[in-house]
Amino acid sequence: MSKYIYVNGHYLLHDQAFIHVEDRGYQFSDSVYEVIYLYNNHLIDEEGHLHRLENSLSNINCTMPVNCNTLKLLIRELIRRNKLLFGLIYIQITRGIAPRDHKFPLNTKPSLIMSCKKLSYSEILKQQDIGINIITVPDERWKRCDIKSTMLLPNVLAKQQAFEQQAFEAIMIDSEGFLTEGTSTNLWILNKDGILQTHEANHKILNGITRQRLIALIKEKKIPFIEKKFALHDLQQAKEAFITSTSSMVKPIIKLNGKSFNNEIIGPMVIYLKQLYLDYVLGQVQ
Ligand code: PDD
Repeated sequence: MSKYIYVNGHYLLHDQAFIHVEDRGYQFSDSVYEVIYLYNNHLIDEEGHLHRLENSLSNINCTMPVNCNTLKLLIRELIRRNKLLFGLIYIQITRGIAPRDHKFPLNTKPSLIMSCKKLSYSEILKQQDIGINIITVPDERWKRCDIKSTMLLPNVLAKQQAFEQQAFEAIMIDSEGFLTEGTSTNLWILNKDGILQTHEANHKILNGITRQRLIALIKEKKIPFIEKKFALHDLQQAKEAFITSTSSMVKPIIKLNGKSFNNEIIGPMVIYLKQLYLDYVLGQVQ
């Protein structure tokens, strides 16, 4: 965890960093957030993350507490004070402090809270090489999953279920039987026709920044690809499957609901995409 945490204009020591009990983020999850990976002191896809943060805020009628350039400076100062080189930066913006009332006051000052945590690159690579187990669970979330809200209770409960079944991630299935995404990751398959496929970016999923980056890289390489929802049987019949996210990058799936997937072999497409994304990350530093 961070030694220093940024709370509304102050860099506070971890054990002295608090938010007000009437902060609407605490009372109502009236708040959004972002997570950015820091690779060797370089923020990966910072612009994409900050753009999504602005979108999340505008979708809940909330404003940035500081302008984007100031936010970038504050993030760098947090990194400097924590002497972080490889890790995750968490940025949370809430509607601010006001007497508890469901409807929101129009003139509160949004709260800005930022923290960071160490995550070495080798730790990510290790799990990429081993592959992961996933389970499937019903998607019990609201209808605006495109907003990166801190309202994560369904995700938390599903992830706990995964943990209790020795799985890394729970993939959620909507009421029509389509797989949406993981609790904190996007899901992809190399479908039975050899085409890369992931859920279309709509209200049912968070349009991952890693997902968007990988799509751009795939398009550059002219690899066949479609954005289209798919069902559990498509995943079961897929040649390969993997998840993407800021902290996972590209992680292959080797077990599904307690059974071997693809004989627990990490397929050539995932190996290729893993490297494609890693090369992109490494390329950011040169
Ligand atoms: N989670 N889907 C959900 C529900 C997520 O929470 C996340 C990210 C993703 C992947 O998005 P990205 O590629 O931008 O990280 C998909 C972050 C990392 C988190 O909750 O820690």
